[in-house]
Amino acid sequence: MDTQGVRDAYRRYARHYDLCFGAIFHPGRKMAIEQMGIQPGESVLEVGVGTGLSIPEYPEGVHVTGIDVSTDMIEIAQERVERLELPNVSLMEMDAENMDFGDGQFDHVVAMYVLSVAPYPDRVINEMRRVCSKQGDLFIVNHFRHRNPLISGAEKMIAPLSKLVGFRPDFAMDEFVDQTDLEVIDTKPVNLFGYWTLLRASCEPRSARFAAA
Ligand SMILES: C[S@@+](CC[C@H](N)C(=O)[O-])C[C@H]1O[C@@H](n2cnc3c(N)ncnc32)[C@H](O)[C@@H]1O
Repeated sequence: MDTQGVRDAYRRYARHYDLCFGAIFHPGRKMAIEQMGIQPGESVLEVGVGTGLSIPEYPEGVHVTGIDVSTDMIEIAQERVERLELPNVSLMEMDAENMDFGDGQFDHVVAMYVLSVAPYPDRVINEMRRVCSKQGDLFIVNHFRHRNPLISGAEKMIAPLSKLVGFRPDFAMDEFVDQTDLEVIDTKPVNLFGYWTLLRASCEPRSARFAAA
């Protein structure tokens, strides 16, 4: 999947997205925002904000910036922000693999259901790290390849359709953590049957800890 493939997939999904993926993904969105422990006055970057379903969940007084590479998705998010009259929210069309923000610009950075969709998830992680304050952590909600071999077998079978369905069903957490050098702090199962994972990681790479020791 390339960036144009993501835009094409989400052009097809955009007007039906909330109905299909609103309620089912919502417990994970809420839990990620709660776990960030955001204080009034702090700033949050939400990568791949989609139609902005998470936005009403942020506490009052928090500065929320949402980016997404899909024009169709971000337009719906913008309509939501205007309808709800949320002055602390800014939305931008931007590729998370190459962000226009400064280093350490945000207190918190989160990506929900994005990494198995983004063409280069490792680049997204590098950028999330770069723009996050050194005191902050990265929060990720995603589906990773299931540990049950029967289920992961089915996920592998549908993997060749990833371009059509718009995400990689067989995204392996261990490989992803290794490739991106993530220092995982915590993981929690979320949503129906715990099929998705909320992962909290340090914004410093794991190798940085060894280098400092
Ligand atoms: C499954 S949707 C999740 C939307 C939202 N986070 C939610 O909770 O419903 C994935 C979103 O990631 C966006 N996306 C994928 N790759 C991206 C990239 N490289 N940069 C920015 N957004 C990206 C897609 O356009 C889509 O809106």
